[in-house]
Amino acid sequence: MRKKIALIGGGQIGQILAMLAAQKEMGDIVVLDIPDYVNPVKGKALDLMEMAPHGNYDAEITGTSDYKDIAGADICIITAGKPRQAGMTREDLLTTYIKIISDVAKGIKENAPDAFCIVLTNPLDAMVYTFHQITGFPKNQVIGMAGTLDTARYRSFLAMELNVSVADIAGTVLGGHGPTMVPLPRLTTVGGVPLTDIADQDLIDRVVDRTRKAGTEIVQLFGKGSAFFSPAWSAIVIAESYLKDKRRVLPGAALCEGEYGINGLFLGVPCLISAKGVEKILQITLAEDEKARLAATLEAVQKTVDECKTYF
Ligand code: NAI
Ligand code: 2OP
Repeated sequence: MRKKIALIGGGQIGQILAMLAAQKEMGDIVVLDIPDYVNPVKGKALDLMEMAPHGNYDAEITGTSDYKDIAGADICIITAGKPRQAGMTREDLLTTYIKIISDVAKGIKENAPDAFCIVLTNPLDAMVYTFHQITGFPKNQVIGMAGTLDTARYRSFLAMELNVSVADIAGTVLGGHGPTMVPLPRLTTVGGVPLTDIADQDLIDRVVDRTRKAGTEIVQLFGKGSAFFSPAWSAIVIAESYLKDKRRVLPGAALCEGEYGINGLFLGVPCLISAKGVEKILQITLAEDEKARLAATLEAVQKTVDECKTYF
């Protein structure tokens, strides 16, 4: 029997998720959106069904606004969100996002309580925290996707600067999904060679800075909306590791209970993703400057989470 993939939100990222999941034959796909947007989502699903003969995949792809249609889903990927409107305050924004993520969490809890859930909705670290609070799901069943994207960006920028294949860059980015994130040049390698042996500090600083601002760089180029190809691929990598028990080690926002000295917060850390979901958080022995940066990112995430707590 095919796996069932529920995509909650069928906007920019949701539609690319659906295409990638179909092309990879990951299973049947249900795209759920609000009633006002259900027809476009049904249209996107039908368009993808009509692409199947050339895409060479077998999958049932449907659009819906009814949570009953996600019953039995093995995995839910959440991109439900709303772009910021002119004149909205931060408070308006958080109230809106918390309402959206609460509705989604309740819908999933009632209809697909065993699904592994990957949250993408921003502000990421606070939204995955809220989602977990409302579902009460076991911690291994919930992850926020950001570090996988931030690490992909970091690797891409290094490959561009060094003029080498991106496949040979290995590294990771810890922390919150924002300007305080913590790329780790000390532990980055290029075909097994330490980055710090072959790149000068200026290059490293440039790449770290660009990685931290990468989301904004895309927003500024688009003028409206944010990145969607790379966020979708990054979520698919996590989903595949879960569905196929690939046991990949990927950065993601996982609930830390003691790891890295963090308690009760979701923060970007290296996670072992298996058929059990977030099977394990891997701990890195950090240098003093890296610890200080992690403390700063933790403080930023804690601040947003505390703000969110006043709304639910
Ligand atoms: P989008 O606006 O194109 O799509 C969002 C979709 O969610 C819309 O179709 C909307 O109708 C739907 N939606 C709204 N309320 C809903 C509800 N209650 N239930 C179900 N669906 C609902 O946005 P896009 O570009 O797809 O981005 C989605 C989210 O992902 C945003 O919050 C964005 O900031 C975030 N994002 C996160 C990244 C990450 O690394 N974690 C990277 C890029 C974007
Ligand atoms: C990004 O990093 C804005 O979170 C979004 O592209």
